[in-house]
Amino acid sequence: MEQLTPLGLIISLFLFFPIATSLPTSGRPRTYIIHMDISAMPGAFSSHHNWYMSTLSSLSSPDGFSPLHLYTYNHVMDGFSAVLSQAHLDQLHELSSHLATYPETFGHLHTTRAPTFLGLKKHSGLWPAGGFGEDMIIGVLDSGIWPESESFNDEGLPPVPTRWRGACETGTEFNASYCNRKLIGARSFSKGMQQEKQNISKTNDYDSPRDFLGHGSHTSSIAAGSSAVAAEYFGYAKGKAIGMAPKARIAMYKVLFFDESYDAAATDVLAGLDQAIEDGVDVLSLSLGFIETPFDENPIAIGAFAALKKGIFVSCSAGNNGPHAYTILNGAPWITTVGAGTIDREFAAHVTFGDGELTVTGKSVYPENLFVSDIPIYFGHGNRSKELCNSLDPKEVAGKYIFCDFDSSGQTNAYAQIYEMDTAGAAGAIFSSSEGPFFRPTDFFKPFVLVNPKYGDLLKHYIINSKNATVSIRFQTTLLGTKPAPQVAYFSSRGPDRKSPWILKPDILAPGVDILAAWVPNRGFAPIDDDDYLLTDYALESGTSMSCPHAAGIATLLKAAHRDWSSAAIRSAMMTTAEVFDNANGRIIDMTTGVAGTPLDFGAGHINPNKAMDPGLVYDIEIQDYINYLCGLNYTSKQIRTITGMRQFNCDSATLDLNYPSFIILLNNTNTTSTTFQRELTNVAEGSSVYRAVVRAPSGMKAVVQPETITFAGKYSKAKFQLTVEIDVGVGSIPESDYFGNYGFLSWYEVNGKHQVTSPIVSAFAP
Ligand SMILES: *[C@@H]1O[C@H](CO)[C@@H](O)[C@H](O)[C@H]1NC(C)=O
Ligand SMILES: *[C@@H]1O[C@H](CO)[C@@H](O)[C@H](O)[C@H]1NC(C)=O
Ligand SMILES: *[C@@H]1O[C@H](CO)[C@@H](O)[C@H](O)[C@H]1NC(C)=O
Ligand SMILES: *[C@@H]1O[C@H](CO)[C@@H](O)[C@H](O)[C@H]1NC(C)=O
Ligand SMILES: *[C@@H]1O[C@H](CO)[C@@H](O)[C@H](O)[C@H]1NC(C)=O
Ligand SMILES: *[C@@H]1O[C@H](CO)[C@@H](O)[C@H](O)[C@H]1NC(C)=O
Ligand SMILES: *[C@@H]1O[C@H](CO)[C@@H](O)[C@H](O)[C@H]1NC(C)=O
Repeated sequence: MEQLTPLGLIISLFLFFPIATSLPTSGRPRTYIIHMDISAMPGAFSSHHNWYMSTLSSLSSPDGFSPLHLYTYNHVMDGFSAVLSQAHLDQLHELSSHLATYPETFGHLHTTRAPTFLGLKKHSGLWPAGGFGEDMIIGVLDSGIWPESESFNDEGLPPVPTRWRGACETGTEFNASYCNRKLIGARSFSKGMQQEKQNISKTNDYDSPRDFLGHGSHTSSIAAGSSAVAAEYFGYAKGKAIGMAPKARIAMYKVLFFDESYDAAATDVLAGLDQAIEDGVDVLSLSLGFIETPFDENPIAIGAFAALKKGIFVSCSAGNNGPHAYTILNGAPWITTVGAGTIDREFAAHVTFGDGELTVTGKSVYPENLFVSDIPIYFGHGNRSKELCNSLDPKEVAGKYIFCDFDSSGQTNAYAQIYEMDTAGAAGAIFSSSEGPFFRPTDFFKPFVLVNPKYGDLLKHYIINSKNATVSIRFQTTLLGTKPAPQVAYFSSRGPDRKSPWILKPDILAPGVDILAAWVPNRGFAPIDDDDYLLTDYALESGTSMSCPHAAGIATLLKAAHRDWSSAAIRSAMMTTAEVFDNANGRIIDMTTGVAGTPLDFGAGHINPNKAMDPGLVYDIEIQDYINYLCGLNYTSKQIRTITGMRQFNCDSATLDLNYPSFIILLNNTNTTSTTFQRELTNVAEGSSVYRAVVRAPSGMKAVVQPETITFAGKYSKAKFQLTVEIDVGVGSIPESDYFGNYGFLSWYEVNGKHQVTSPIVSAFAP
């Protein structure tokens, strides 16, 4: 990933990723999250808050420092956050009402065509069935929102649902008059950030719900943006930008602030989630993540559990740390963890050879409408170093368009060539490179195009064999319907989850590459020439940050269409109807390798909203099931209490097997591993039905379902089955590594009906 940003002037904000755990340093007061046992609250206190404040004021410190209260939490946990000295902490820990303490940590960001690609249509399918999400409220925890964006216009929306308890806060360049029937809530949570990082007003970020970065406006408009008629990115992707749930309401909870990077303090994230639950959101979308720790240390896992208890659906980004295994973030099983895929749209420039006989197409997202006609092209031919643009002589290339050859040895990459082109003062370039798909829109700060090595060879042949080689280049071309799509984005974090490998993650793939959505108009987005930035109202961004709100918006539509579905049922519907084939009828490709990916890359597959509307059967999960799983992980009762907020629970049914719509077998060092899964299906279609199991297993995997036929008496009737999977590593000469991601499927086919309920079965080594 780092090699993708070698040029100082190219800022790729969304590639930054986690790693940040604050360790308490002795002496200096620090921020802590304190979990309390509220059953120990003396009766004299009228509220938890008063009790916490009184507890804090009873603490003393030899240096005279007084505890500083930040937030009281009511829904996500019982407790508060505060700035405390070591002496304060020691006194707190003596109290029998103290449950647990966690130091502040920081999370990080993970960035209109998409609705069409996903098959959403105005007059049929999930859009009309879900009323376009009209009565639903999506809470987005992000970097704020740009309320004036066309994507947040409220034309034609009915009044705000009366059950809504949220508000629009006043702050820097923001007040209640910026909200409307689309943006119905906007709050900002910066206390934690102000304590441990930069003072926000000094870093120019707005100390208010207003978006400084653009990220929050982008994710919100993906989830629920209104139809914005003339959206485009410098002439690319022209068309209508529209969110997944275009009539759903948006409530922004700003928790990400600009420091040296864009970070979110755990205390602020907990406060944002607490308030969103209080305000009454139906769905939460979080395109940020904290490093994977046991769930009791992760504010998103804790907050999402509280949301689960209130029936709120939580969608989170899987992280941008791919393509290696065990890079998943937000892997708690009560969260829907969303990986990123490409869509069937590419940005290009056409290169025509001087003789006009041949035109080839390459990747370019140069943000100007430029047509260069019949210009001579420089090629350092005869000198390999110059051919590769390893060492260009400014005297030879300044002001010219140059051609740089492909280095099959891999020693010279396109980024190095671009750097050389820029420093030597060339006007523009054609690079023969296999790296085109990995280039981001903001990388194109000069007029250049990357053609694949096959076209590069044609061009080289033409240049070498003509006395006076010229080319014409037409920039700013958008190609639609490109194949194969989707592919698993190289950056998308991969499973299994390090801390919870018994549940397959990610759950699902959704669009996350070059997505056009709202942006902040006052901040440069596209670098151009050497120190200029172009402004834009709509930006193309990539990341699981972008795939997460797609899933959140679709979940919103599903919730609107099926008010009685639990969050697990909604996720199950998305997963069992997901696509594992691309638009060229092949298995979904991992763009890193160019070969078929596995469920460790794409989960159950690529989200298909219209099919998810009518899944036939769902795998439902109750709160007690998640507790049984935490028990199976051997969490202490204190940890389980911290996560669930429940004082009473039992671990009599501890298990590592959840009623999940996917199956993962963790291999041992033994030759054969046999795992038995217990599952229960719920019929969510009208009337009675019969389903028959079909297993497709690869060699080395044996899977047996019992019973193979299940009858459902009517809607909501349930039936159990058992799947036993045996993996034999000892047989044959297949290398062990082949079993990492070896996969098959279990499908329940409705007899004389149309429903198909498919789950991946995948094997992997334990971390
Ligand atoms: C909000 O701010 C705008 C612009 O500064 C101002 O015109 C308006 O009166 C303010 N509204 C409220 C409710 O404070
Ligand atoms: C942040 O800086 C502003 C302006 O310099 C100042 O008014 C404010 O008190 C500071 N806040 C904190 C928490 O230091
Ligand atoms: C190729 O060009 C480079 C840079 O101008 C120069 O240093 C090198 O000597 C040249 N090699 C040959 C074989 O001419
Ligand atoms: C090379 O081509 C350019 C552009 O077509 C033309 O202007 C120039 O005269 C040509 N030079 C020679 C030597 O043919
Ligand atoms: C939980 O503890 C039991 C008993 O010590 C052990 O067998 C099991 O492997 C542990 N499970 C996990 C997930 O660590
Ligand atoms: C791995 O092997 C050990 C002993 O060989 C066994 O106790 C354990 O259950 C196995 N784990 C799995 C996931 O099969
Ligand atoms: C596993 O298989 C290998 C190769 O067939 C064999 O040599 C070895 O003894 C087997 N190990 C066990 C524990 O069965």
